[in-house]
Amino acid sequence: MSAPSLAGRRALVTGGSRGIGRAIARRLVAEGCAVTITGRDPASVADTAARLGCTGIAADVADGKAMEAAFATAGAVDILVNNAGIALSKPFLAHEIADWNAVLAVNLTGVFLGCRLALPGMIARRWGRIITIASTAGHKGYAYTAAYCASKHGVIGLTRALAIETARSGVTVNAICPGFTDTDLTTAAAAVIEAKTGRSAEAARAALTALNPQNRLIAPDEIAEAAAFLCQPEALGVTGQSLIIAGGEVM
Ligand code: NAI
Repeated sequence: MSAPSLAGRRALVTGGSRGIGRAIARRLVAEGCAVTITGRDPASVADTAARLGCTGIAADVADGKAMEAAFATAGAVDILVNNAGIALSKPFLAHEIADWNAVLAVNLTGVFLGCRLALPGMIARRWGRIITIASTAGHKGYAYTAAYCASKHGVIGLTRALAIETARSGVTVNAICPGFTDTDLTTAAAAVIEAKTGRSAEAARAALTALNPQNRLIAPDEIAEAAAFLCQPEALGVTGQSLIIAGGEVM
């Protein structure tokens, strides 16, 4: 049997303790990568890392010092998956400045910090893959998610700028844009709809599911499959892209 395609590569997945990040980390372990996951809660990071057979480090993506320490422990990172993200659901005029700052700190500045730490080594070694989990909210607007949509549009802009800047360095920079995916984040979004509208939990979840023309939630493994593809040597020509995985919701 041939060696896994990414054998020997080191990957760091932010927010890897559950949901989409955990699925990507699991997939990269299967591809032969030495994977480090980060997350905010030390216990769940350690628990997931032990289950997946990877390294777990508690680090907030919005905390520059914690991110520096995480990268120092992870070693030379060949693959960075900027996955950590938070969602906030409220009308724009109810967004306080603290809400805005909190969402941008994690979803946009966290990506900036990760890219700054990963890129020098990738450029020096002339091989690297940066993948940011953005969202369909990086391509279209959804009501009651102004800060979230702004942050996700922002990371797509950052992805495109870095792709051009690194185009001759062996590094690719891409975004993956899921539609509503079957994770805790979507469960929380459905709970907000339930609380605000008085709909049942099932009806609230069905409303989110119906946004996908295939009338289903995306599975985290579908995102992991796309991430694994973008890491392959044969995907060198794919850079600056934002791959939408949403059953046709955005085209
Ligand atoms: P989730 O809530 O299940 O998991 C998020 C992960 O990020 C957790 O491990 C959490 O600990 C970590 N995290 C959150 N804030 C962090 C911080 N400040 N520092 C470090 N880790 C942090 O969410 P899910 O669904 O797995 O989302 C992953 C990414 O996918 C996010 O960027 C999200 O915006 C994006 N996304 C999710 C969609 C969905 O429907 N679930 C759709 C489109 C995009």
